[in-house]
Amino acid sequence: MQMVGSLQNYDMTRVLPFKAYFFELLVFLLITSMPAFDFGHHIPLKINMFYVPSPSEVGDSVLLRCDYELGNEALYALKFYKNMIEFFRYAPEDHPSIMIFLTPGVNVDLSKSGNSSVYLRNLTLESSGNYTCEVSSGPPYFSFKQITKQLKVEDSRHHIPLEIKMLHIPSPAVVGDSILLRCDYDLGDETLYNVKFYKDLEEFYIYYTKRIPSMLVFPQPGVNVDLSKSGNSSVYLRNLTLESAGSYTCEVTSDAPSFFFDIITKQLEVVVPPSEGPVLTEENSDYKIGENVSIRCHSGKSKPAPDLKWYINDQPVISHLHNKETIVHPDQLESSSLALSFRLMSDEIQNGKVTVKCVATVKHISAETSIEITASGFKLSAFH
Ligand SMILES: *[C@@H]1O[C@H](CO)[C@@H](O)[C@H](O)[C@H]1NC(C)=O
Ligand SMILES: *[C@@H]1O[C@H](CO)[C@@H](O)[C@H](O)[C@H]1NC(C)=O
Ligand SMILES: *[C@@H]1O[C@H](CO)[C@@H](O)[C@H](O)[C@H]1NC(C)=O
Ligand SMILES: *[C@@H]1O[C@H](CO)[C@@H](O)[C@H](O)[C@H]1NC(C)=O
Ligand SMILES: *[C@@H]1O[C@H](CO)[C@@H](O)[C@H](O)[C@H]1NC(C)=O
Ligand SMILES: *[C@@H]1O[C@H](CO)[C@@H](O)[C@H](O)[C@H]1NC(C)=O
Repeated sequence: MQMVGSLQNYDMTRVLPFKAYFFELLVFLLITSMPAFDFGHHIPLKINMFYVPSPSEVGDSVLLRCDYELGNEALYALKFYKNMIEFFRYAPEDHPSIMIFLTPGVNVDLSKSGNSSVYLRNLTLESSGNYTCEVSSGPPYFSFKQITKQLKVEDSRHHIPLEIKMLHIPSPAVVGDSILLRCDYDLGDETLYNVKFYKDLEEFYIYYTKRIPSMLVFPQPGVNVDLSKSGNSSVYLRNLTLESAGSYTCEVTSDAPSFFFDIITKQLEVVVPPSEGPVLTEENSDYKIGENVSIRCHSGKSKPAPDLKWYINDQPVISHLHNKETIVHPDQLESSSLALSFRLMSDEIQNGKVTVKCVATVKHISAETSIEITASGFKLSAFH
């Protein structure tokens, strides 16, 4: 009865070649005709691990090792498959005991392969695939265990990846200007899937290589895209406003299968230059040598507020500056003012006069106003 129990453990549903099935039938008849036979305690065959070094590089040689335990079963065959196609068989009772079936991308080195492993030489991209280790036992159990692992073979040495070289943004730009944002990229070995532009992380433009329409725009305040001047690496923005300022991102993605992407971000500053030059106001109307000269410089409105600098006879003034002020106007524009006070000394007088100048600068744009002061009493002429 114990014998029958053992046979019931055996899974009759597995698919076997006719020869094997016939062989089993034979064994079945054999053991059922020997009522005194005792198998003892059964320790089944098992595979602990299948080691597949993945990812590997083109040109590498790798050992695929199948770590199995036979228990108290007897090895019938160890087989290796690639994508379900057998390429290696070790069957100790067969002659020859090792068989190799030629498969593209699989170069077995027999001298380093054995009863638990195969050594593959010189991997190619074709070597990638699902590898299966299968261990089966002979009579009386005819067990059968499999494990599958994926081997990825990469060619990173020769692959040139997609890369963004530069995002050109003409910053600072002036309100009302139109500008081109240009994203310079190198696709390397890849092909383009799409190019996206974001402002403050919100997408406003996409260029697709393989779709119609190829360009899509998502409106945002201050971002007025001119499609006729935009393309696969640039986007043209019309009529900048203060709202156009912010961080702009270009994202380039390569096509299937890799879908690599690169990303780059730059700031756009938008300025409103002062509408007029600074205005100078003086406290007193009359100066003599030894008296304190006191003049205030008021900038025109701009965004951001201008930096003010004073010059005496074209020499920048570092001390004698007072009461720096910034005013924010209801229209968001700003203006600054700064007072200059100094004692009128004879050594500052050149050709009978002293020239003082106030320069207002917003980023790269500046405006200035000068006054000439004569030593004999007071004579003033302002020019911008
Ligand atoms: C595999 O081979 C090694 C040495 O070649 C041997 O020690 C070991 O018993 C063998 N294992 C099986 C399951 O045949
Ligand atoms: C490895 O495979 C490549 C491509 O099949 C072949 O050109 C090269 O000669 C092979 N190298 C060796 C050492 O077998
Ligand atoms: C390998 O197996 C994975 C996961 O099971 C599957 O997605 C993939 O298509 C298989 N590859 C091949 C070549 O059979
Ligand atoms: C981008 O467009 C230009 C001009 O239309 C074309 O020459 C170039 O090949 C395109 N580049 C890509 C990556 O599609
Ligand atoms: C530019 O934008 C400003 C503010 O939104 C608007 O008043 C003006 O009409 C626009 N000019 C053009 C040419 O679109
Ligand atoms: C001129 O200014 C200096 C400090 O800047 C002050 O010490 C001096 O008293 C002032 N002179 C007059 C006449 O106001």
